[in-house]
Amino acid sequence: MFFKIQPVSFFHIDTDGELAFGCENQAMEPEQIRRRVKKSVIDLHLEALTGRNIFELSGGEKQQIACGSVYAANPKVYVLDEPSSNLDVKAVLHLRQILQRLKQEGNTIVIAEHRLYYLVELADRFVYMDNSTIAQCFSSKELLQMPNELRQALGLRIPDLSKVETTVSEYKESNNAMEITDLICKRNKKEILSVHRLSIPKHAVIAVIGKNGAGKSTFAECISGLQKCSGQIITQGHLCKPKERVRRSFLVMQDVNRQLFCDSVLEEITMGSSNSNPDEAKELLDLMNLSSLADKHPASLSGGQKQRVTICAAIYAKKKWLFYDEPTSGLDYDGMQHFADLLKMNQDKTEFSFVITHDMELVMSGCTHVLHLEKGKLKEFYRIDGSTQTRLRQFFLCEEREEIVN
Ligand SMILES: Nc1ncnc2c1ncn2[C@@H]1O[C@H](COP(=O)(O)OP(=O)(O)OP(=O)(O)O)[C@@H](O)[C@H]1O
Ligand SMILES: [Mg+2]
Repeated sequence: MFFKIQPVSFFHIDTDGELAFGCENQAMEPEQIRRRVKKSVIDLHLEALTGRNIFELSGGEKQQIACGSVYAANPKVYVLDEPSSNLDVKAVLHLRQILQRLKQEGNTIVIAEHRLYYLVELADRFVYMDNSTIAQCFSSKELLQMPNELRQALGLRIPDLSKVETTVSEYKESNNAMEITDLICKRNKKEILSVHRLSIPKHAVIAVIGKNGAGKSTFAECISGLQKCSGQIITQGHLCKPKERVRRSFLVMQDVNRQLFCDSVLEEITMGSSNSNPDEAKELLDLMNLSSLADKHPASLSGGQKQRVTICAAIYAKKKWLFYDEPTSGLDYDGMQHFADLLKMNQDKTEFSFVITHDMELVMSGCTHVLHLEKGKLKEFYRIDGSTQTRLRQFFLCEEREEIVN
């Protein structure tokens, strides 16, 4: 028996029901189901997520419930489809611990994944697929010793995060800023975001970072006018009300399936846009390696292809404020690098680009500033330069690792 984790497919609207779903399907006795669910909650640290409405969870929290549901069902073979996408660094390392334990218990684990760093020294074999066939196999050692040029030519992500190189992205200081004051968002009477004062310089590409549930997606939805909130957002001395913010913004959602509506990829990119230059749409498709898919139905594409289509739609729409929520969660090395290049190419044309991400490689290669949220509050905002790179590295590596040990 095997289970596949694909977090978009939930069967219940509450987390407790979802955790028990796999056990119920195996017709386990109620007492056994309770035991299995309890074990899953304890082993996977899901205490804070029990008794919740699934629709009120953040992307990473949903992913954790999907893992918990499968773990509770106790299969012998696990098939995991990008289980780390949407997870923060700590949650990824925790996932690694769980996989290690499952492996030691004699289970079989098959993982389709772009992020390789947490699987090194854990997976027995790395099977590289190309054009629907198995092209090569690697061991962890071979992967770690592979020259960068070869790895990148194969489209593989870095296997050791501590070796991610930082390039300080060009940025000309600008006085025009977005001034955010007393931004507060409440859901079910609970305050989930509160930013007292923040000034974001024009033409910045801002990496919005923070743990799962920190309030990153909520921040993007509030600024883009899609989420009800209080507070003021002022640009060039002008108070931007929600309707105007919606007009200025394009949000690439964390779950891109929610914003694909058309019958073809090309239509998807041009739909509803005031831009009427189809050549530009074709150029974007070319840049994102999607030309051969222009006539395909978006629903027939892979997760990473769908993500790239929505990114193209965002750029084509020529909106001044762009929000990308986890844009590279399903992208290989090439896809991530193309997206980073696109961010740079559009930097001058866009007033503000917000990139919500857990992807260290992307932040290091495509962003100019960091906005760090913690528990719904602004922790810090800074320009990525020689003096702040260490802080950023610590967030993605050390700081989080220390926490998992404790
Ligand atoms: N409708 C809601 N009612 C109650 N709480 C909610 C609701 N929507 C979101 N939340 C909570 O608000 C917090 C912030 O959610 P948000 O989606 O902004 O997090 P995030 O930083 O984007 O996380 P992730 O990295 O997992 O995507 C989470 O703890 C989430 O559970
Ligand atoms: Mg989110």
